[in-house]
Formats: sequence, structure tokens, C-alpha cells
Amino acid sequence: MAKIVSFINFKGGVGKTTTAVEIAVSLAAHHGKRVLLVDLDPQTNATFYLVREADWASWVQERGSLKDLFDAVLGGDRPCEIRNAIMQTVAAGGLAIPGLHLPPSHLELISVDLRLAWPLTSGRSPMSMTTSCAIALPTST
Ligand SMILES: Nc1ncnc2c1ncn2[C@@H]1O[C@H](COP(=O)(O)OP(=O)(O)OP(=O)(O)O)[C@@H](O)[C@H]1O
Ligand SMILES: [Mg+2]
Repeated sequence: MAKIVSFINFKGGVGKTTTAVEIAVSLAAHHGKRVLLVDLDPQTNATFYLVREADWASWVQERGSLKDLFDAVLGGDRPCEIRNAIMQTVAAGGLAIPGLHLPPSHLELISVDLRLAWPLTSGRSPMSMTTSCAIALPTST
């Protein structure tokens, strides 16, 4: 069974991405592990930590990204075979690392967050709920 390791902190800019990428590289390069680094962040920082932008752009056009997977799962008309979208050989510091695999992220994953939240909010858009909450808050004294 694969082990899943998540790096989670509500606060931004505390090193989640850096730690995730460095541990993924270390497990693959120094411990012979097969690692799937899943970059679900629309900021795509983990992806661009390891892949040049031009290489990412051509890969995404030809093979797809995690955005295509979510599009397919959320009812899109194009099927997605995620295996095709996984970069099988990723380099770090100019050295290819066998065992480190990356389904690349995409800026448009930002819309997936909202689409996933939609059924949980009983058809009310998450944005309208935010507005309602803001209105319900007591005024400060
Ligand atoms: N151990 C460290 N020592 C010094 N700087 C670090 C360390 N880890 C990360 N940084 C730097 O801190 C900044 C934020 O790191 P990172 O992008 O990993 O944070 P994050 O938690 O993923 O941010 P976000 O919430 O935006 O996704 C980067 O400039 C990174 O280079
Ligand atoms: Mg990050």
C-alpha cells in the first residue's frame, strides 16, 4: 500500500511546498522510493520547483494536468487517463531522479475548489455564503 504524506498548514508561506518537494526528492533520490508528488495547489509552485515553464506548457498541452482529471471527474465531456499526464522522470538540480513522478498542477485548478464546494453548500455559491457570514458577524464595540 502506498503511504500518503500531506503537508498542511492554514498559514501561508510557511514552507509547505518546499518541505513537500524536498522530502519527495529525498525519498526518491536517496531512499529508492517511488514517489508521486501531487501538486493540488493552483499556485503550481511545487510543479515549477521541478519543471521549467516551457516544458510544463508543452506537456500540459500534449498530455494534460491535474486540471483535466478534475474536469473529467466533475462531469466534463472529455475523459482523462491520468497516467498519461504524469511526468515519469522529473529532474532536481539538473539531475533526473528515477522514481519521482509528478502529475503537474495548473493555475485553473483555482476554479475546481469552487466547483467541489458547490454541492456541499446546497446549491448556494461559496461566495454568497462568505457574504452571508460576513453580514451575520456582530459589529465590534
Ligand atoms: N527551511 C527554510 N528556510 C528558509 N527559507 C525557507 C525554508 N522553507 C521555505 N523557505 C522559503 O519560504 C518561502 C515560502 O515557502 P513555501 O513556498 O514552501 O511556503 P508555502 O507554505 O508552500 O506557501 P504557500 O502558502 O504560498 O503555498 C519561499 O521563499 C521558500 O524558499
Ligand atoms: Mg505552497
